[in-house]
Amino acid sequence: MGVFLGIDIGTSGTKTLAMDASGKILADATEIYPCRAPRPLWSEQNPEDWWKATVGSVRRVVARAKLKPADVKAIGLSGQMHGSVFLDRNNKVVRPAILWNDQRTAAECAEIERRAGGRAKLIRMVANPALAGFTAPKILWLRNHEPRNFDKTRRVLLPKDEIRRRLTGEFATDVSDASGMLLLDVARRRWSKRLLAALELDESLLARCHESEEVTGTLTREAAGLLGLSTDCAVVAGAGDCAAGAVGNGIVRQGVLSTSIGTSGVVFVHSNEVKVDPLGRVHTFCHAVRGKWHMMGVTLAAGGSLQWFRNALCQADVERAKKAGREVYDLLTAEAAAAPAGSEGLFFLPYLSGERTPHADPDARGCFVGLTLAHGRGHLVRSILEGVTYSLRESLAIFEELGVPVREIRASGGGSRSPLWRQIQADVFGRKVVTVNTEEGPAYGVALLAAVGAGAYANIEEACKAAVRVVRQTTPDRAARRRHDRAFPVYQQLYRSLAADFKRIAAEG
Ligand code: XUL
Repeated sequence: MGVFLGIDIGTSGTKTLAMDASGKILADATEIYPCRAPRPLWSEQNPEDWWKATVGSVRRVVARAKLKPADVKAIGLSGQMHGSVFLDRNNKVVRPAILWNDQRTAAECAEIERRAGGRAKLIRMVANPALAGFTAPKILWLRNHEPRNFDKTRRVLLPKDEIRRRLTGEFATDVSDASGMLLLDVARRRWSKRLLAALELDESLLARCHESEEVTGTLTREAAGLLGLSTDCAVVAGAGDCAAGAVGNGIVRQGVLSTSIGTSGVVFVHSNEVKVDPLGRVHTFCHAVRGKWHMMGVTLAAGGSLQWFRNALCQADVERAKKAGREVYDLLTAEAAAAPAGSEGLFFLPYLSGERTPHADPDARGCFVGLTLAHGRGHLVRSILEGVTYSLRESLAIFEELGVPVREIRASGGGSRSPLWRQIQADVFGRKVVTVNTEEGPAYGVALLAAVGAGAYANIEEACKAAVRVVRQTTPDRAARRRHDRAFPVYQQLYRSLAADFKRIAAEG
């Protein structure tokens, strides 16, 4: 039997799934871990937690699907992007990993632009501006703030590549995840020697860069023993979770766009050529499809905004839902569904972790604007769903402005499982939104890449054609669409009105 595993090192947990050669899922398992915020807007995790969750989830999948070691031919790795794992010369982590949603590096972003000779030059070198969550600013932060840790550091790995090291002993990465380090010449798909020189960083810090379906090594004896797999099992390069999730949704050809609502919200579009936003509002990264690229916009707190609301304000409901055997999110979205489109003038700005697209502003803050005595909790929840979706629409509007063709929108991620949030997406985008049969996200995308790497398919396009198909459509409601078309410019204006105040609030600490 030919079985392929996909492992996704996410922010809230690690998910592993097993898939057969036809794309059918045999079993999956998720193990969760905490995320720490030792200071406001910092975000860190312990790579050892990812490893334990990887071992635990793989073993559970192997047991559930009753796999024999020789069944599993290849593993694909995916993970949260941009995180920095700093390793010393004995491959011990030097400090906790700094994550994609950490906003401590505003000064280092300015330093990178200055060293690169300005923002425009930087964008020409690596296709993107310096953003606080990216990896290069974190490396400079370590050098500026923890010089002893920096001196000890011999390697900087992305989260999934740290897991690869523990699985195979290899230092390798893939072009899609590497793009988010801000050190890759995205057009040429190799490390940017010019930027590395300008930043006085040594290329030996970085892993070997591969196309996503390439085999980067096989399991070490120790890892194979721990996981119940064989030392013949190959590990392919894989992809950052955004590109991997897109592959899992079949976003491997021009004209198809996906929205994915997990902790963050990602609007992702395939591109046959390298297109760069000269204003740097959206990212241009290598795709997990050989020789192709993608553009994407990221809302940092998408599902994360609703999760915050649940955690901060709905503990009693969490208990109530648990007793009733229901999901607390179902209770909350049922309340939201009772409020009208537009939340009767209530707006939510989802900047709980600062913001990436389109503002690239670590100082931005979350807000409810427009509250009246008439608003209840359902309005609050609905305005969160709408505010996050307005934020996604801002990315969509930028792609359209840049002339990137968008013929079809595929919704995915936990948020898109809610019928209400899918309807809000159709209404806010003013377009039909479809979902596909494969709802497993990034882990599924890299399982498909593993199948390609092991020769089960000629390429990833062929694998997606065999495995992914549209199963559901949501069409916009005309009245709701008109309501959102009027509200959207108000939402956009609110950031502009508040930006200077956000700076003042951030300066006060
Ligand atoms: C993408 C990004 C996030 C993380 C979340 O640029 O920062 O989507 O990858 O896992």
